[in-house]
Amino acid sequence: MARYFVTGAQGCIGAWVVKNLVDRGQDVIVFDVDLEPRRLGLLLDAQALSRVQFLRGDVCDSDQVSSEVLRQNVDYIIHLAGLQVPTCRANPKLGAMVNVVGTINVFEAARARGNELRGLVYASSAAVFGPEEDYGDNPLDESASLLPETHYGVFKQCNEGNARIYYRDHRLSSVGLRPFAVYGPGRDFGITSGPTKALKAAVVGRSFEIKFGGSVSMQFVDDTAKTFIACAESRKAGARVYNIRGAVMTVEEFIQVVEEAYPRFRGLIRCTANTIGIASNLAEQGLRDEIGTIPTTDLKAGIEATVQIFQRLQSEGRLDLSDLDK
Ligand SMILES: NC(=O)c1ccc[n+]([C@@H]2O[C@H](COP(=O)([O-])OP(=O)(O)OC[C@H]3O[C@@H](n4cnc5c(N)ncnc54)[C@H](O)[C@@H]3O)[C@@H](O)[C@H]2O)c1
Repeated sequence: MARYFVTGAQGCIGAWVVKNLVDRGQDVIVFDVDLEPRRLGLLLDAQALSRVQFLRGDVCDSDQVSSEVLRQNVDYIIHLAGLQVPTCRANPKLGAMVNVVGTINVFEAARARGNELRGLVYASSAAVFGPEEDYGDNPLDESASLLPETHYGVFKQCNEGNARIYYRDHRLSSVGLRPFAVYGPGRDFGITSGPTKALKAAVVGRSFEIKFGGSVSMQFVDDTAKTFIACAESRKAGARVYNIRGAVMTVEEFIQVVEEAYPRFRGLIRCTANTIGIASNLAEQGLRDEIGTIPTTDLKAGIEATVQIFQRLQSEGRLDLSDLDK
């Protein structure tokens, strides 16, 4: 049994990473400032939750990160802790502390673990790219220029650069992954949480406006989680960074797929005309070369899985609607 140290594991992607690892019978250490398993509780029952080790931890505390990685005899690090676009915009200094210095601290801990560490993967983001109009018509591969338009995107770009230097200076291998708009249960915060919130609202018969339109790449959270785990375990050398292509479509088309699957949701979900400002037509050959098959749930199936979980939570009186008004 291997030991996985997951930072930011109480988050949306993290909860699904933990669920997948627990389902496989692995040892999981949750390292998060938040001790409340709010999202994990949606995915795991009490018995499964009891197999997870919870540590209240801050990636900004370098001593704590390193000492826990060493004390826990960690085999794999999956680094997801981070602040999203709105928080980085409101407080760039805090954003840099958590997203950049926090990532340095995780890399230092990985370095201290030396050859005992079998894999390190961290969350970058498609926000390292600029808007569609900055590029040509072809899918963007990992050699495309990075032209981020937010502090958040710049911080992610910086992490990719630091990962490259850790390999150059210390032969510390890592994989950075660039998700775009992850959707599914647990996605309740951040700009691209709109499509998931819209599904939740529709389940309870409420209307919802997604605050952007235009082209996006939709990625079902369980696929994203499995991709992070596969990259942590791929055991290749170098500082690799990969796009995740997902299902590329317009938000208007997403709404259409939802309405075809659930005719009773018709008219409840709208979107605005504001584009998100990140190119979505991304190539995924690099990721395929790294892990072989890329976990891919068809959009309709991902929407149905999401709606089913929301319906179950509603019937159990556990559907939290507080995110819909934020
Ligand atoms: N969700 C997406 O669509 C998406 C897209 C691109 C990139 N990403 C990146 O993937 C990662 C995970 O995303 P998510 O959607 O699960 O985010 P999330 O906001 O749901 O979860 C982030 C988690 O990090 C924790 N955290 C925050 N500051 C911390 C700190 N100082 N120390 C320890 N833990 C801390 C939070 O408590 C939270 O549980 C993030 O780095 C994010 O930037 C997400």
